[in-house]
Amino acid sequence: MQKQDLKQYLLKEVTSQELIELVSENIKPFYELMAYYRCAMMEVETKFRVLDEHFSLKYNSNPIESIKSRLKAPESIAEKLSRRGFPLTIESIEKNIYDVAGVRVICSFPRDIYMLADLLLMQDDVVLVEKRDYIKNPKPSGYRSLHLIVEVPIYLHSGKKMVKVEVQLRTIAMDFWASIEHKLRYKNNINKKEVKTIAEELLECSRVSAMLDKRMEQIKEKIDKL
Ligand code: GTP
Ligand code: MG
Repeated sequence: MQKQDLKQYLLKEVTSQELIELVSENIKPFYELMAYYRCAMMEVETKFRVLDEHFSLKYNSNPIESIKSRLKAPESIAEKLSRRGFPLTIESIEKNIYDVAGVRVICSFPRDIYMLADLLLMQDDVVLVEKRDYIKNPKPSGYRSLHLIVEVPIYLHSGKKMVKVEVQLRTIAMDFWASIEHKLRYKNNINKKEVKTIAEELLECSRVSAMLDKRMEQIKEKIDKL
């Protein structure tokens, strides 16, 4: 039922039983969709855990430091749709929002990021939708991460369903930087001058942390060769 129809409907006399039915009829498909995203998120997370396990067994090394997964909150989904001028429907969520399911993979070294991304994309049930390399091309803020939008299949009684998941791969240093910078984003209206100064300092820190990532990687390579 469209939003306008719903308003018209509610303006009429509605019994509480009818109202309960109306709400559950609209909410159920939404929660069903969220369950599909949760399953796809688990699939992607498991793929990374399997890769980490493989490296642990074969090379006695763990490329993954940690994995954090999250589902976008219903309010954030609605806010993003309306901000971008898309309809607030189930179909529209699937078509227009690529980051309902998010998996963040944190590594120690940049080269592990590219290795893991390649190994994920090589798998024949993973479809690449979009790749944004903010490590090679950092954002003007200084933000660095490798972003992949992938589609993975989940298997339901009605058959196979492809579901989108946003994967963010970053080093510990990139993640540390992003978490501090994220805090600044919520403080934009307070003191513009101070915010600008901090943003400049963060940009400088991003360069320093990129350099540190590179040096640590070189040191690790030297140690491995000993
Ligand atoms: P969103 O509307 O935020 O999803 O942006 P987008 O669809 O254009 O995608 P983009 O690749 O720019 O960013 C997706 C996600 O990356 C964001 O939701 C953040 O988690 C993260 N991100 C991107 N840019 C920044 C940044 O400058 N700082 C921080 N802290 N995180 C960022
Ligand atoms: Mg996003």
